[in-house]
Amino acid sequence: MIVVKLRKGEPRITWHPDRQVNAGEAFRKLGTRISGVDQLSLILNHEEAKTPISHFYTETLTMDVPGIALITGAASGIGRACAHTFARDGASGIALLDLDKTALETVQAEINSQLSPDKTPRCRVEIYPVNVTDENRVNEVIQSAAQTFGRLDYVVNAAGIAMKHQGGAAFVETSDWQRIVDINLTGTFFVLRAAARIMLTQEPIRSSIDGRPLQRGSIVNFSSIQGVAGIPLSTAYTATKHAVIGLTRTASEDYAKDGLRVNAICPGYTETPMTTKSPLVLQAMQERVATAVPMQRMGEPREIADGVVYLSGGRSSFVTGTALFVDGGYTQR
Ligand SMILES: NC(=O)c1ccc[n+]([C@@H]2O[C@H](COP(=O)([O-])OP(=O)(O)OC[C@H]3O[C@@H](n4cnc5c(N)ncnc54)[C@H](O)[C@@H]3O)[C@@H](O)[C@H]2O)c1
Repeated sequence: MIVVKLRKGEPRITWHPDRQVNAGEAFRKLGTRISGVDQLSLILNHEEAKTPISHFYTETLTMDVPGIALITGAASGIGRACAHTFARDGASGIALLDLDKTALETVQAEINSQLSPDKTPRCRVEIYPVNVTDENRVNEVIQSAAQTFGRLDYVVNAAGIAMKHQGGAAFVETSDWQRIVDINLTGTFFVLRAAARIMLTQEPIRSSIDGRPLQRGSIVNFSSIQGVAGIPLSTAYTATKHAVIGLTRTASEDYAKDGLRVNAICPGYTETPMTTKSPLVLQAMQERVATAVPMQRMGEPREIADGVVYLSGGRSSFVTGTALFVDGGYTQR
């Protein structure tokens, strides 16, 4: 049994959580009562460890995401990094969605192997193989995840593909155009729609830091620097990433007053399998990065994940309908 005591002079509360409950969940329950506390005692198997409260904030509360996250494209690259960041920052449950079941199992195992300071799993992680273009399957999986976890607080629409069209817009194959639109735009819409229907019916989550009610739900869609700029030979991709910003803006207007936030993240060149698996693509990208990106480097997936988790959690409670550029300065040039 874990006993959590909150102290400032006198113990204010003693709580006996179930061992399964992780630190994020504990703080969600305790959130309203911990302000003004400067030290926590965790008594685990009769051994008491006094921990300055600042350590707990650093460890679990940085972006105030104690709820349940659902991430598409979670098997690779930025989606995978988002899963790790949510787990580290205190999410109590994570639903991982992707086409690739085996890679999802790997990400699930990675997160399960990173234990909390009390040696328990950081959070519950479930995997859901799904193609985001399959409307019925998306509806079914999102319902199922919401039932399994009890609610959905943060939805991250990271599934996506990129493709170059030789010869540019005049020579794009209709099948390539359709495939990219189906995954990057229609898939994002299917996930947003299914998640929003659930989020609109749930009570707002409370901040794990100060207990104030936050949003009913927060959705982060993946656009790109190509959501506002054209890049050669990227007809379909660029069109879908512009459209994702439009989808984000209109949906954010629909539900801002209801406490459902919808934002877009716009990564710059980021090192993931999407950009590094082809040596030719990588070389072209590195040349461009050297001249077009003020920071003169590619981003790391975890740097994009930090932006996603910020937009998801309590730190961005007054932010909706925005597009956050995490691009090493690319779009200011
Ligand atoms: N890497 C970059 O430089 C960069 C820049 C800007 C935007 N983005 C965007 O970030 C998001 C993540 O990209 P990444 O770089 O991590 O790519 P990635 O290829 O590493 O990961 C994408 C994931 O999406 C999954 N996926 C693809 N089609 C799917 C479908 N139909 N249904 C379910 N899952 C599907 C893939 O299996 C893969 O696991 C994408 O939307 C991408 O457009 C990436």
